[in-house]
Amino acid sequence: MTPELMKAGTQARLAHEQRAQQAGGSGGREAAYGRVVQPGQVDVAHGAILYLDDISVSFDGFKALNRLSLAIDAGELRCIIGPNGAGKTTMMDVITGKTRPDSGSAFFGSTIDLLRLRENAIARIGIGRKFQKPTVFEPLTVFENLELALKADRRARAAVWARLSGEQLDRIGEVLALIHLKDQARRTAGLLSHGQKQWLEIGMLLMQDPQLLLLDEPVAGMTDEETERTAELFLSLEGRHSLVVVEHDMSFIGTLSRGGANAARKKVTVLHEGSVLAEGTLDDVQSNDKVIEVYLGR
Ligand SMILES: Nc1ncnc2c1ncn2[C@@H]1O[C@H](COP(=O)(O)OP(=O)(O)OP(=O)(O)O)[C@@H](O)[C@H]1O
Ligand SMILES: [Mg+2]
Repeated sequence: MTPELMKAGTQARLAHEQRAQQAGGSGGREAAYGRVVQPGQVDVAHGAILYLDDISVSFDGFKALNRLSLAIDAGELRCIIGPNGAGKTTMMDVITGKTRPDSGSAFFGSTIDLLRLRENAIARIGIGRKFQKPTVFEPLTVFENLELALKADRRARAAVWARLSGEQLDRIGEVLALIHLKDQARRTAGLLSHGQKQWLEIGMLLMQDPQLLLLDEPVAGMTDEETERTAELFLSLEGRHSLVVVEHDMSFIGTLSRGGANAARKKVTVLHEGSVLAEGTLDDVQSNDKVIEVYLGR
Protein backbone atom coordinates (compact mmCIF):
# COMPACT_ATOMS: atom_id res chain seq x y z
CA MET A 1 0.00 0.00 0.00
CA THR A 2 1.32 3.45 -0.87
CA PRO A 3 1.90 6.08 1.83
CA GLU A 4 -0.82 8.10 0.12
CA LEU A 5 -3.29 5.31 0.55
CA MET A 6 -2.28 4.84 4.18
CA LYS A 7 -2.75 8.53 4.87
CA ALA A 8 -6.06 8.40 3.11
CA GLY A 9 -6.91 5.43 5.31
CA THR A 10 -6.68 7.63 8.34
CA GLN A 11 -8.75 10.23 6.54
CA ALA A 12 -11.29 7.61 5.64
CA ARG A 13 -11.66 6.63 9.25
CA LEU A 14 -12.06 10.25 10.18
CA ALA A 15 -14.62 10.74 7.45
CA HIS A 16 -16.43 7.68 8.64
CA GLU A 17 -16.54 9.18 12.12
CA GLN A 18 -17.61 12.44 10.60
CA ARG A 19 -20.28 10.78 8.59
CA ALA A 20 -21.35 9.47 11.92
CA GLN A 21 -21.12 13.20 12.59
CA GLN A 22 -20.79 13.45 16.31
CA ALA A 23 -17.77 15.33 17.45
CA GLY A 24 -16.22 13.71 20.49
CA GLY A 25 -18.10 10.44 20.10
CA SER A 26 -16.61 7.65 22.14
CA GLY A 27 -16.23 5.41 19.11
CA GLY A 28 -17.23 1.81 19.07
CA ARG A 29 -20.33 0.37 20.52
CA GLU A 30 -22.79 1.97 22.74
CA ALA A 31 -25.26 0.44 25.10
CA ALA A 32 -28.95 0.36 24.39
CA TYR A 33 -31.01 -0.82 27.30
CA GLY A 34 -27.80 -1.63 29.09
CA ARG A 35 -26.50 -4.11 26.60
CA VAL A 36 -23.95 -3.91 23.86
CA VAL A 37 -25.46 -3.55 20.45
CA GLN A 38 -23.72 -5.59 17.80
CA PRO A 39 -24.33 -4.93 14.14
CA GLY A 40 -26.84 -7.31 12.65
CA GLN A 41 -28.69 -7.71 15.91
CA VAL A 42 -31.60 -5.54 14.98
CA ASP A 43 -34.84 -7.32 15.81
CA VAL A 44 -37.28 -7.13 12.93
CA ALA A 45 -39.49 -9.97 14.12
CA HIS A 46 -42.42 -7.59 14.08
CA GLY A 47 -41.78 -6.68 10.46
CA ALA A 48 -40.59 -3.11 10.82
CA ILE A 49 -36.99 -1.94 10.67
CA LEU A 50 -37.84 1.61 11.72
CA TYR A 51 -40.57 3.06 13.89
CA LEU A 52 -41.03 6.76 14.44
CA ASP A 53 -43.81 7.58 16.83
CA ASP A 54 -45.23 11.00 17.61
CA ILE A 55 -41.94 12.81 16.96
CA SER A 56 -41.83 16.58 17.38
CA VAL A 57 -38.88 18.88 16.74
CA SER A 58 -39.03 22.64 17.18
CA PHE A 59 -36.54 25.26 16.15
CA ASP A 60 -37.20 28.47 18.06
CA GLY A 61 -40.85 27.64 18.44
CA PHE A 62 -41.24 26.56 14.80
CA LYS A 63 -42.32 22.95 14.50
CA ALA A 64 -40.17 21.33 11.86
CA LEU A 65 -41.66 17.96 12.83
CA ASN A 66 -45.09 17.88 14.36
CA ARG A 67 -46.12 14.56 15.89
CA LEU A 68 -44.66 12.59 13.01
CA SER A 69 -45.34 8.84 13.02
CA LEU A 70 -43.98 6.49 10.41
CA ALA A 71 -42.98 2.83 10.13
CA ILE A 72 -40.73 1.27 7.49
CA ASP A 73 -40.80 -2.47 6.90
CA ALA A 74 -37.66 -4.59 6.71
CA GLY A 75 -36.55 -4.69 3.08
CA GLU A 76 -38.96 -1.96 2.05
CA LEU A 77 -38.09 0.82 -0.39
CA ARG A 78 -40.09 3.83 0.80
CA CYS A 79 -40.25 7.08 -1.12
CA ILE A 80 -40.91 10.25 0.81
CA ILE A 81 -42.05 13.38 -0.94
CA GLY A 82 -43.33 16.76 0.14
CA PRO A 83 -42.79 20.49 -0.32
CA ASN A 84 -39.65 22.38 0.74
CA GLY A 85 -39.54 22.76 4.49
CA ALA A 86 -41.90 19.81 5.08
CA GLY A 87 -39.40 18.26 7.49
CA LYS A 88 -37.94 15.47 5.32
CA THR A 89 -34.30 16.21 6.08
CA THR A 90 -35.11 16.91 9.73
CA MET A 91 -36.69 13.45 9.91
CA MET A 92 -33.40 11.92 8.69
CA ASP A 93 -31.53 14.06 11.22
CA VAL A 94 -33.67 12.54 13.99
CA ILE A 95 -33.17 8.96 12.76
CA THR A 96 -29.39 9.40 12.56
CA GLY A 97 -29.07 11.14 15.93
CA LYS A 98 -28.03 14.50 14.51
CA THR A 99 -31.11 16.20 15.95
CA ARG A 100 -32.78 15.18 19.20
CA PRO A 101 -36.57 15.45 19.11
CA ASP A 102 -38.48 17.30 21.83
CA SER A 103 -40.81 14.35 22.19
CA GLY A 104 -41.73 11.04 20.63
CA SER A 105 -39.86 7.80 20.11
CA ALA A 106 -37.67 6.29 17.41
CA PHE A 107 -36.77 2.60 17.26
CA PHE A 108 -34.52 0.60 14.96
CA GLY A 109 -36.16 -2.79 14.86
CA SER A 110 -38.31 -3.36 17.89
CA THR A 111 -35.60 -3.12 20.54
CA ILE A 112 -33.01 -0.47 19.69
CA ASP A 113 -33.97 2.95 21.01
CA LEU A 114 -32.34 5.40 18.61
CA LEU A 115 -32.94 8.32 20.93
CA ARG A 116 -30.53 6.79 23.43
CA LEU A 117 -27.70 6.40 20.94
CA ARG A 118 -25.14 8.86 19.70
CA GLU A 119 -24.71 9.59 16.04
CA ASN A 120 -21.59 7.46 15.51
CA ALA A 121 -23.19 4.51 17.30
CA ILE A 122 -26.25 4.78 15.07
CA ALA A 123 -24.05 4.63 11.99
CA ARG A 124 -22.39 1.49 13.37
CA ILE A 125 -25.54 -0.43 14.12
CA GLY A 126 -26.45 -0.39 10.46
CA ILE A 127 -28.05 2.91 9.46
CA GLY A 128 -26.25 4.52 6.53
CA ARG A 129 -26.98 8.01 5.32
CA LYS A 130 -26.22 9.60 2.00
CA PHE A 131 -25.96 13.36 2.14
CA GLN A 132 -26.51 15.39 -0.97
CA LYS A 133 -22.91 16.32 -1.68
CA PRO A 134 -20.64 13.42 -2.62
CA THR A 135 -17.64 13.10 -0.31
CA VAL A 136 -15.38 10.65 -2.10
CA PHE A 137 -11.58 10.84 -1.89
CA GLU A 138 -10.82 12.43 -5.22
CA PRO A 139 -7.08 11.62 -5.52
CA LEU A 140 -7.71 7.91 -4.95
CA THR A 141 -9.08 5.38 -7.38
CA VAL A 142 -12.62 4.06 -7.25
CA PHE A 143 -11.31 0.74 -5.93
CA GLU A 144 -9.24 2.43 -3.22
CA ASN A 145 -12.25 4.45 -2.10
CA LEU A 146 -14.24 1.25 -1.60
CA GLU A 147 -11.29 -0.44 0.08
CA LEU A 148 -11.02 2.43 2.55
CA ALA A 149 -14.74 2.42 3.25
CA LEU A 150 -14.40 -1.26 4.09
CA LYS A 151 -11.44 -0.66 6.36
CA ALA A 152 -12.96 2.37 8.02
CA ASP A 153 -15.54 -0.07 9.28
CA ARG A 154 -14.30 -1.29 12.64
CA ARG A 155 -16.35 -4.41 12.22
CA ALA A 156 -13.98 -5.48 9.47
CA ARG A 157 -11.20 -5.25 12.08
CA ALA A 158 -8.64 -4.92 9.32
CA ALA A 159 -5.73 -2.54 9.54
CA VAL A 160 -5.47 -0.15 6.62
CA TRP A 161 -2.23 -1.77 5.54
CA ALA A 162 -3.48 -5.33 5.84
CA ARG A 163 -4.08 -7.28 2.65
CA LEU A 164 -7.67 -7.66 1.56
CA SER A 165 -9.10 -11.09 2.16
CA GLY A 166 -10.66 -12.97 -0.74
CA GLU A 167 -14.04 -12.32 0.78
CA GLN A 168 -13.37 -8.59 0.97
CA LEU A 169 -12.19 -8.53 -2.63
CA ASP A 170 -15.37 -10.32 -3.66
CA ARG A 171 -17.47 -7.80 -1.80
CA ILE A 172 -15.69 -4.88 -3.50
CA GLY A 173 -16.28 -6.57 -6.86
CA GLU A 174 -19.93 -7.07 -6.04
CA VAL A 175 -20.38 -3.43 -5.04
CA LEU A 176 -18.48 -2.21 -8.13
CA ALA A 177 -20.93 -4.13 -10.28
CA LEU A 178 -23.94 -2.80 -8.37
CA ILE A 179 -22.85 0.82 -8.74
CA HIS A 180 -21.95 0.39 -12.43
CA LEU A 181 -18.31 1.27 -11.91
CA LYS A 182 -16.65 -2.06 -12.59
CA ASP A 183 -14.76 -0.80 -15.61
CA GLN A 184 -13.79 2.41 -13.76
CA ALA A 185 -12.25 0.63 -10.78
CA ARG A 186 -8.71 1.90 -11.45
CA ARG A 187 -9.82 5.38 -12.39
CA THR A 188 -9.13 8.34 -10.13
CA ALA A 189 -12.36 9.25 -8.37
CA GLY A 190 -11.86 12.94 -9.08
CA LEU A 191 -12.29 12.22 -12.79
CA LEU A 192 -15.73 10.65 -12.43
CA SER A 193 -18.91 12.46 -13.45
CA HIS A 194 -21.11 13.91 -10.71
CA GLY A 195 -23.47 10.95 -11.00
CA GLN A 196 -20.65 8.42 -10.82
CA LYS A 197 -19.29 10.11 -7.70
CA GLN A 198 -22.73 9.80 -6.14
CA TRP A 199 -22.76 6.09 -6.99
CA LEU A 200 -19.30 5.67 -5.56
CA GLU A 201 -20.45 7.26 -2.34
CA ILE A 202 -23.45 4.92 -2.24
CA GLY A 203 -20.98 2.09 -2.86
CA MET A 204 -18.90 3.26 0.09
CA LEU A 205 -22.00 3.11 2.26
CA LEU A 206 -22.78 -0.36 0.92
CA MET A 207 -19.34 -1.60 1.92
CA GLN A 208 -20.57 -1.29 5.51
CA ASP A 209 -23.62 -3.37 4.61
CA PRO A 210 -26.18 -1.12 6.34
CA GLN A 211 -29.61 -2.56 6.98
CA LEU A 212 -31.26 0.81 6.53
CA LEU A 213 -30.15 3.37 3.97
CA LEU A 214 -31.36 6.95 4.09
CA LEU A 215 -30.97 8.83 0.82
CA ASP A 216 -31.71 12.54 0.73
CA GLU A 217 -32.24 13.86 -2.81
CA PRO A 218 -29.87 11.30 -4.34
CA VAL A 219 -30.47 12.25 -7.98
CA ALA A 220 -30.16 16.02 -7.64
CA GLY A 221 -27.82 17.20 -10.39
CA MET A 222 -27.76 13.87 -12.24
CA THR A 223 -28.42 13.49 -15.95
CA ASP A 224 -31.58 11.63 -17.00
CA GLU A 225 -29.57 8.54 -17.80
CA GLU A 226 -27.77 8.62 -14.46
CA THR A 227 -31.11 9.10 -12.72
CA GLU A 228 -32.51 6.04 -14.47
CA ARG A 229 -29.51 3.94 -13.48
CA THR A 230 -29.82 5.14 -9.90
CA ALA A 231 -33.43 3.96 -9.87
CA GLU A 232 -32.26 0.55 -11.12
CA LEU A 233 -29.60 0.47 -8.41
CA PHE A 234 -32.08 1.24 -5.64
CA LEU A 235 -34.55 -1.31 -6.94
CA SER A 236 -31.78 -3.91 -6.91
CA LEU A 237 -30.99 -3.09 -3.25
CA GLU A 238 -34.59 -3.38 -2.12
CA GLY A 239 -35.24 -6.52 -0.09
CA ARG A 240 -31.65 -6.95 1.01
CA HIS A 241 -31.60 -3.45 2.53
CA SER A 242 -34.39 -1.14 3.60
CA LEU A 243 -34.28 2.21 1.82
CA VAL A 244 -35.84 5.55 2.61
CA VAL A 245 -35.57 7.84 -0.40
CA VAL A 246 -36.44 11.53 -0.31
CA GLU A 247 -36.74 13.17 -3.72
CA HIS A 248 -38.51 15.97 -5.57
CA ASP A 249 -37.95 14.32 -8.95
CA MET A 250 -41.38 12.77 -9.53
CA SER A 251 -40.37 10.75 -12.56
CA PHE A 252 -37.66 9.09 -10.43
CA ILE A 253 -40.22 8.52 -7.66
CA GLY A 254 -42.50 6.99 -10.31
CA THR A 255 -39.81 4.56 -11.46
CA LEU A 256 -39.01 3.54 -7.90
CA SER A 257 -42.56 3.11 -6.74
CA ARG A 258 -43.87 1.39 -9.84
CA GLY A 259 -40.91 -0.95 -10.25
CA GLY A 260 -39.28 -3.82 -8.41
CA ALA A 261 -40.85 -6.18 -5.95
CA ASN A 262 -44.35 -5.48 -4.56
CA ALA A 263 -44.83 -2.75 -7.16
CA ALA A 264 -48.58 -2.87 -6.69
CA ARG A 265 -48.42 -2.36 -2.93
CA LYS A 266 -45.52 0.01 -2.69
CA LYS A 267 -46.09 2.98 -0.43
CA VAL A 268 -45.20 6.61 -0.86
CA THR A 269 -45.38 8.97 2.11
CA VAL A 270 -46.16 12.65 1.72
CA LEU A 271 -44.85 14.94 4.45
CA HIS A 272 -46.26 18.40 4.98
CA GLU A 273 -45.66 20.79 7.86
CA GLY A 274 -43.81 18.17 9.83
CA SER A 275 -46.31 15.34 9.68
CA VAL A 276 -47.70 12.73 7.33
CA LEU A 277 -50.26 14.29 5.02
CA ALA A 278 -50.92 11.14 3.02
CA GLU A 279 -49.57 7.65 2.57
CA GLY A 280 -50.43 5.02 0.00
CA THR A 281 -49.53 3.91 -3.48
CA LEU A 282 -48.20 6.59 -5.78
CA ASP A 283 -51.55 6.58 -7.59
CA ASP A 284 -53.36 7.08 -4.28
CA VAL A 285 -51.27 10.04 -3.23
CA GLN A 286 -51.20 11.59 -6.70
CA SER A 287 -54.97 11.67 -6.75
CA ASN A 288 -55.29 12.93 -3.19
CA ASP A 289 -56.74 16.47 -3.23
CA LYS A 290 -54.73 17.67 -0.25
CA VAL A 291 -51.49 16.42 -1.81
CA ILE A 292 -52.34 18.07 -5.12
CA GLU A 293 -53.04 21.29 -3.31
CA VAL A 294 -49.89 21.49 -1.19
CA TYR A 295 -47.36 19.81 -3.44
CA LEU A 296 -48.09 18.33 -6.80
CA GLY A 297 -50.32 21.01 -8.25
CA ARG A 298 -53.14 20.51 -10.70
N1 LIG B 1 -31.10 23.67 12.37
C1 LIG B 1 -32.22 24.33 12.08
N2 LIG B 1 -32.50 25.51 12.70
C2 LIG B 1 -33.62 26.19 12.43
N3 LIG B 1 -34.56 25.79 11.54
C3 LIG B 1 -34.33 24.64 10.89
C4 LIG B 1 -33.15 23.84 11.11
N4 LIG B 1 -33.22 22.74 10.32
C5 LIG B 1 -34.36 22.85 9.63
N5 LIG B 1 -35.04 23.98 9.97
C6 LIG B 1 -36.35 24.38 9.45
O1 LIG B 1 -37.21 23.28 9.59
C7 LIG B 1 -38.08 23.18 8.47
C8 LIG B 1 -37.96 21.82 7.86
O2 LIG B 1 -36.73 21.74 7.18
P1 LIG B 1 -36.22 20.48 6.39
O3 LIG B 1 -34.86 20.79 5.92
O4 LIG B 1 -36.42 19.28 7.22
O5 LIG B 1 -37.23 20.43 5.16
P2 LIG B 1 -37.21 19.48 3.87
O6 LIG B 1 -38.53 18.80 3.82
O7 LIG B 1 -36.00 18.64 3.89
O8 LIG B 1 -37.15 20.55 2.69
P3 LIG B 1 -36.40 20.49 1.27
O9 LIG B 1 -37.31 19.73 0.35
O10 LIG B 1 -36.28 21.91 0.88
O11 LIG B 1 -35.06 19.84 1.48
C9 LIG B 1 -37.70 24.32 7.53
O12 LIG B 1 -38.59 25.39 7.76
C10 LIG B 1 -36.31 24.67 7.96
O13 LIG B 1 -36.02 26.03 7.71
MG1 LIG C 1 -34.30 18.50 2.70
